[in-house]
Amino acid sequence: MGQLDGKVAIITGGGSSLGQGGAEARLFAEQGAAGIVLIDLPGSQGAQIAAEIGDRALYIEHDVRDDAAWPAVIAQVLERFGRIDVLVNNAGVWFDEPLVDTTPADYRAVVETNQVGVFLGTYFVAPVMIAAGKGSIINTCSSAGMIGRGQPHAYAASKWAVRGMTIAAAAELASKGVRVNAVSPGVVDTPMIAGGAPEVERLSHFVPQGRVAQPQEVAALVAFLASDASDYINGAVIPIDGAITA
Ligand SMILES: NC(=O)c1ccc[n+]([C@@H]2O[C@H](COP(=O)([O-])OP(=O)(O)OC[C@H]3O[C@@H](n4cnc5c(N)ncnc54)[C@H](O)[C@@H]3O)[C@@H](O)[C@H]2O)c1
Repeated sequence: MGQLDGKVAIITGGGSSLGQGGAEARLFAEQGAAGIVLIDLPGSQGAQIAAEIGDRALYIEHDVRDDAAWPAVIAQVLERFGRIDVLVNNAGVWFDEPLVDTTPADYRAVVETNQVGVFLGTYFVAPVMIAAGKGSIINTCSSAGMIGRGQPHAYAASKWAVRGMTIAAAAELASKGVRVNAVSPGVVDTPMIAGGAPEVERLSHFVPQGRVAQPQEVAALVAFLASDASDYINGAVIPIDGAITA
């Protein structure tokens, strides 16, 4: 028996092989998910990850910012798998500039993916879950959405928004059987950390636990929140950050 036996999940940003989305896709497959839909941009590794998993996986090239294209994505998932039990809003972009060096265009670009992308995923998937009377949505926040000091302005703002959206959506959808939670990683060893191993090593010194997270560790929490074992956890934003925000 797997933790996610029979469930159908959409993972945005699922096409990063060394990222959290790739780790989540592989773990969901291991845990018995019946359908794993990877959404990502052209040039991602989504097709390779889907091929590796086999016919329970489907890669859809889709930009989470594209509201006009979301209905076709939902239709394709329903046609292939018949339902949607889990949505992981994981796609995101990093933008490492302070407020005074962030142009209005930069700010809007970050918010468009990290905040509006989460809204659109939720907006288009929630009706399917409400109709089924159940579902679990997991957003990807960040320690940058829990504190202000030392955080790049636009990125932090977008993740504070994700935190608020998670709580507000949970309160609205709870009576309809749909749970909404978020994971809040600190530093995770993925391609988002520009600079590779030396930068990962440098960042590990800012983590009270003395190391950064591996994407599989975040994936394990996401899988738990996707599973029925977390049925009474709703509206939680759970730090998984080695005590960065403690
Ligand atoms: N790596 C970290 O230290 C860290 C810490 C806290 C939170 N996060 C968050 O975790 C999530 C996953 O990031 P990761 O660390 O795996 O990085 P990653 O760069 O490996 O993965 C992000 C994925 O999102 C995809 N993506 C970006 N914009 C998209 C769009 N418009 N439409 C569809 N897909 C899009 C990218 O192509 C990429 O595959 C992000 O939301 C990120 O902000 C990361």
